[in-house]
Amino acid sequence: MKKKLYIKTFGCQMNVYDSARMRDALMVLGYAETDKPEFADVILINTCHIREKASEKLFSELGRLGQIKKKNALIVVAGCVVQADGAEILRRSPLIDIALGPQSYHELPKILTEYNRQKGRAIRAEFPAESKFDFLPRPQKSSANAFLAIQEGCDNFCSYCVVPYTRGCEYSRPSTEILKEAKELVKLGAKEIMLLGQNVNSWHGDQGRDLGDLIRDMAKIRGLKRIRYTTSYPSKMTQNLINTHADTKKLMPYIHLPIQSGSDRILKAMNRQYTVAEYEKIIAQFRAVRPDIAISSDFIVGFPGETEGDFEQTLALVERVKYASSFSFKFSARPGTPASLMKNQIPEDIKTKRLMKLQKLLQSQQRAFNEATVDKELDVLLIERGKENGQLLGYSPYMQGTVVKAPLNMLGEIVRVKIIGASATAITGKIITQ
Ligand code: 5AD
Ligand code: SF4
Repeated sequence: MKKKLYIKTFGCQMNVYDSARMRDALMVLGYAETDKPEFADVILINTCHIREKASEKLFSELGRLGQIKKKNALIVVAGCVVQADGAEILRRSPLIDIALGPQSYHELPKILTEYNRQKGRAIRAEFPAESKFDFLPRPQKSSANAFLAIQEGCDNFCSYCVVPYTRGCEYSRPSTEILKEAKELVKLGAKEIMLLGQNVNSWHGDQGRDLGDLIRDMAKIRGLKRIRYTTSYPSKMTQNLINTHADTKKLMPYIHLPIQSGSDRILKAMNRQYTVAEYEKIIAQFRAVRPDIAISSDFIVGFPGETEGDFEQTLALVERVKYASSFSFKFSARPGTPASLMKNQIPEDIKTKRLMKLQKLLQSQQRAFNEATVDKELDVLLIERGKENGQLLGYSPYMQGTVVKAPLNMLGEIVRVKIIGASATAITGKIITQ
C-alpha cells in the first residue's frame, strides 16, 4: 500500500504551484495524494502570511487536523508563515513535526526520509544559495489549467507587504527551463498555463528578452491553448508585453494589474513606484491594442493616514477604469513592515465601512461586465464539477467563472458556449459545439 499525502493550501496561486511541486516530489518517493486527512501518513499545510487573518488559519487548521489525524501521521507546515515566524509556530503548536520556508521545498524528500522522532523536529527557513527549482522533480500530474512559476520574490518593498521578507529577492527562471516545464505540463494534460510571479512582468531572460518574448515562445507549444500571467506591477509594464495581447492569440484578454489606491499621496506612502495618471495611461495602452480586455486589480483600504478624500479618489478611479473583477482588503499591519509602525493607523470600523463601500462598487462593475457578455459566444475551459449534479464550472477568456450543463467526461475540454445568464460572481451558458 502506498503511503498517503494530504495537502491543504492557503493563500496565493504561487502557493498552489508550490504545493503541486511538493506533491510531485513526494510522488517520486512513492506517496499518493488523498483528499481524506484522516487516512494520510503525511499532512502538509502550505501557509500564507500576507494578512493577519491568513496566518490565523494555520492554527485553526492544526486544531482540526490534530483531532482526526492518524496517530503516527507527520505534520509538515510550509510557506510564508514559516519564513516569518518558524520558531514561534513550532513553540505554539507541538503538533508540527517539520517546518519549511518557501525556498527550502526541495529539501522535503530528504528531511522526510531521514525523519526520526528521536532526532526531534526539523525546521528549514533559510534562503539557500541554490535554487529550489534546480532540485524539484519534473511535474508528475497536471490539471487542465496549470500554474507555472517563472519568477519569484520581490524587490519593491511596498511599505505594507511581507513578501520581500518571506519570498526573498527577485529571481527569474531561465526560459529553457520554463519552456521545458510547460511542454511537460501540456503532455500531462494542461490546456492552459498561468505564468506566475510576485512581479511576473519583471521576468527577464537572456539578451534583454522580456515576458512578451517568453509568451510568444510559449504560444508555439502544440497542444497548449491558452496562456495567462499574474501578478503584474504597473511601472514594470513594457510596450512589448502589451503588444503581445494584440499579436498572440493564445494570450487571454485579461490583465491583473493592482493599483492598491487611487490617491497619489497614499501610493507614495505605500512606496508604490507610479502615479494614478501613469497607471491609467497603461490601462489605456492595453485597451488600445485589445479593446475587450478584462481589467482586474487589488485594493487596500484604510492604509495609515488615508483620509475620506483619499478614499474618495479610490472610488473615483474605480468609476473611471471599470473593472471586470477585483480583490479588496482592509489594511493589515504586518510585523516588521514600515507601515505597521506608521503613527496614523485607521480605526477598524472606518476600514470596514470603506471596504464595504468599495466592494459594493466593484461588485456592480463585475456584474455589469458579466451582463455585457450575455448572448455572446465564448470559449470555456471546463475544470471542475459545478455545485449541482450535471453541472461543470469553467473559465471564459475573460476569467469569468462559467457554469454549464455538461457530463463529467467533458472536464478538461474547451467548449464553445452561448452565454444566457449573468450575476456579479459568474455567468451561465449553453454548450453549442465542442
Ligand atoms: N494589508 C492588506 N492587504 C495587503 N496586501 C498585501 N499586503 C497587505 C497588507 N499588509 C494585498 C495587496 C496585494 C495583495 C496580494 O494583497 O492588495 O496586491
Ligand atoms: Fe508585496 Fe509590493 Fe512586492 Fe507586490 S510588489 S509582492 S505588494 S512588496
